[in-house]
Amino acid sequence: MTVQTERLRARIADQLGRARDRTARLADAVDDEDLTRQHSTLMSPLVWDLAHVGNQEELWLVRDVGGLTPIREDIDQLYDAFRHPRRDRPRLPLLDPTQARAYVGTVREKVLDLLDRVPLEGRALVADGFAFGMIVQHEQQHDETMLATHQLRDGEPVLQAPPPPPARVPVGGEVLVPAGPFTMGTSTEAWALDNERPAHRVDVPAFFIDAAPVTNAAYARFIAAGGYDDPRWWSEPGWRHRMTAGLSAPLHWLRDGDGWAYRRFGRIAPVRDDEPVLHVCFYEAQAYAAWVGKRLPTEAEWEKAARFDPATGRSRRYPWGDREPTAQHANLGQRHLEPAPVGAYPAGRSPLGVHQLIGDVWEWTSSDFRPYPGFAAFPYREYSEVFFGPAYKVLRGGSFGTDAAACRGTFRNWDLPIRRQIFSGFRCARDPRAGEAD
Ligand SMILES: [Fe+2]
Repeated sequence: MTVQTERLRARIADQLGRARDRTARLADAVDDEDLTRQHSTLMSPLVWDLAHVGNQEELWLVRDVGGLTPIREDIDQLYDAFRHPRRDRPRLPLLDPTQARAYVGTVREKVLDLLDRVPLEGRALVADGFAFGMIVQHEQQHDETMLATHQLRDGEPVLQAPPPPPARVPVGGEVLVPAGPFTMGTSTEAWALDNERPAHRVDVPAFFIDAAPVTNAAYARFIAAGGYDDPRWWSEPGWRHRMTAGLSAPLHWLRDGDGWAYRRFGRIAPVRDDEPVLHVCFYEAQAYAAWVGKRLPTEAEWEKAARFDPATGRSRRYPWGDREPTAQHANLGQRHLEPAPVGAYPAGRSPLGVHQLIGDVWEWTSSDFRPYPGFAAFPYREYSEVFFGPAYKVLRGGSFGTDAAACRGTFRNWDLPIRRQIFSGFRCARDPRAGEAD
């Protein structure tokens, strides 16, 4: 075995372990009754996520990669996300917490065992450890979903984390991204998912983008100015949704005298002015942008602002370069339980000077979720392809609840435009006015 393969195996084992530690922390924070309860019809019971993570790992790694006999074929259909919508999952004959923990433990033992002996080359599914990387990302994505479930549950706080770093530099205004082509997507990132591929050139006209995500203070001004009561700022479906859902502020915001408070993981605190706004849906983001005379960035604009290096003309893996994120670069991985204030990560800015593109809050873009030219579904259609179309909007950049393993400059997330239980915020963009981009 080469040193390189050995390193890859060690990295996979480490990433699997990190994901599992996090899953365990999220599950063990509550008792069994809480694990099996549905905290919101938008979410699965936590115990479903737990066993589903193990079931996907069994399907792809134990059975497909390892070619081993199934451990629990009988439960496959219970944990098939396409078979049962989230609201129905609590009524299924699910594994109880003890059974679910034992099951995921058994699966993991087999996986670590086969990791030592399967070749990580040849077949596309295993080349560079892709299938393992996909399963690591899948578990981390469910951990973020479990974190969102924690945010929706009532009761005493059960999660702890230190506060994020303070603002270190003042950040405001907009950045001009010059016109021209850049490379979007990737053909070289080993663990990139099918929808991020392949790399392709996109010609993007000049545009301005906010140097930071929209803050709570700015968003509160939109509310105070009657933004929720003026259909002028809303798209037609957005206004319809605002009316039927009775939207009047971000999810989890509460009136607090003249100001606002929010409830976070069971704790109530005054809303912080300098922090990116969180828990807004696409329609709210779009309405705010219209109110300030701007718009949401397209997905290509977002990625160009994040990755394009004008000095070399190439696209970086991350805004700060090609190195994996550290605690200095971005607020990722549930290290903190909230977004950091604007200006907290100067080391993470892009070459053009755009801050906090990675981490803190997922950022809504104006783009529908569509395949890139040359897209090929891999390893299965249900990963991305079945979601392509106008129903889903793309979010970029990851949140404080996204692990670095499931976050990079090319990573694409998608959701319905009404969703806001996710850790979603946004920044604005606009076209240059005459003479501004010369
Ligand atoms: Fe899943």
